[in-house]
Amino acid sequence: MHIHKFEQFWIKLSFVLIAFFIVTVVYGFVAMDLKVIGDHATIDPQNLADTKFGNPGVREVTRNGQTEYEVYVQTIQFAFNPGTAQPIVVPANTRVTFYITSPDVLHGFDVAGTNLNTMSIPGQVAKFTTIFPEVREYGIVCNEYCGPAHHVMEGKIKVVPKSEFDKSNLVE
Ligand code: CUA
Repeated sequence: MHIHKFEQFWIKLSFVLIAFFIVTVVYGFVAMDLKVIGDHATIDPQNLADTKFGNPGVREVTRNGQTEYEVYVQTIQFAFNPGTAQPIVVPANTRVTFYITSPDVLHGFDVAGTNLNTMSIPGQVAKFTTIFPEVREYGIVCNEYCGPAHHVMEGKIKVVPKSEFDKSNLVE
């Protein structure tokens, strides 16, 4: 069977490209230690009770001599805990790190009017640090479809002046 030389060229080139793509993928996983999310759960969604997520809320921590806050939030069909039943209260002009996970299905954690926005994935912990410069309230919305009441899943963050921050609501 005769194959035209241009066609032979493109057939060879396509095999070279496929080999090149395989090499880049293998190189990424082996030499650069890339991982696919979902391959390695970092937290057991069935056993959040044994973690800080079992007692979610705002904690005070000291880092580099500075007082900062950590907020552990569970996203549950169809509420943020905390956030929905009671607002997440944090002081203004202070570093706040959020840790977010889900015991059930994929949710979103989107602080409306800001660029704070993450997925909440069962088995994974989403983490971000921010400083709220203003005293005000922010809405939290779930922006991943999570079931029939997805559209009513919302919460609130209340940023208060540092001097009015009530430490009696912190969790242990
Ligand atoms: Cu939770 Cu949509």
